Amino acid sequence: MQDRELDSHSSVLLGFMHRFVPAPTGKPRESATLLLLHGTGGNEDDLIPLGKEMGRNFSLLSPRGRVLEGNMPRFFRRLAEGVFDMEDLKFRTEELADFVETSSKEYHFDPGRVVAIGYSNGANIAASMILLCPKILLGAVLFRAMVPLVPEKLPDLSERHVFLSSGRYDQIIPREQVHELELLLRKSGADVTLNWAQSDHSLTREEVIKAKQFLDSHY
Ligand code: MLT
Repeated sequence: MQDRELDSHSSVLLGFMHRFVPAPTGKPRESATLLLLHGTGGNEDDLIPLGKEMGRNFSLLSPRGRVLEGNMPRFFRRLAEGVFDMEDLKFRTEELADFVETSSKEYHFDPGRVVAIGYSNGANIAASMILLCPKILLGAVLFRAMVPLVPEKLPDLSERHVFLSSGRYDQIIPREQVHELELLLRKSGADVTLNWAQSDHSLTREEVIKAKQFLDSHY
């Protein structure tokens, strides 16, 4: 089999430093693409191993957040922990949606079969994207997400599947936030699987395995 590492050096598109790893079949158009969105202080390399673990035929698209907090990349600006700059969040969500669409042409993957996997800040922009630009994402795995924003008009998320995995002992994301996000997604018609990990803000093996099972059964 072709070594996928060879195809996945970082490059820049629409200002996004990113990596694209084609599906092992070498035919990105025939498989779903996982949009990998790292947490605060991460980069485009962080979630590649996780994406590969999700296995099978997925291609991987992994951008680096374009906002810097000190020297830490993020996907949108925040004013304080859990307090978001709403204008920037909306702008960055659309900017990321454009990046995904342009990437689909550049790398020849199907723009109608993109599923996000986000962690923390990456999960928050993924949630924002599914709420504001629902056409871009067929589903999402949200690790440690909160309510990024409440759209003026709820999107139609029927046929969209979301795996929402939160830490029972997370000190950054209050439980009410998780339930509010779950409710918002359900009210929009999404099929939501809520998982409570026996953990804080860090990921556990168990929830990664559950996320893989979720992807296997839906995509
Ligand atoms: C983070 O540290 O990334 C926060 O928990 C989530 C965010 O700011 O989006």
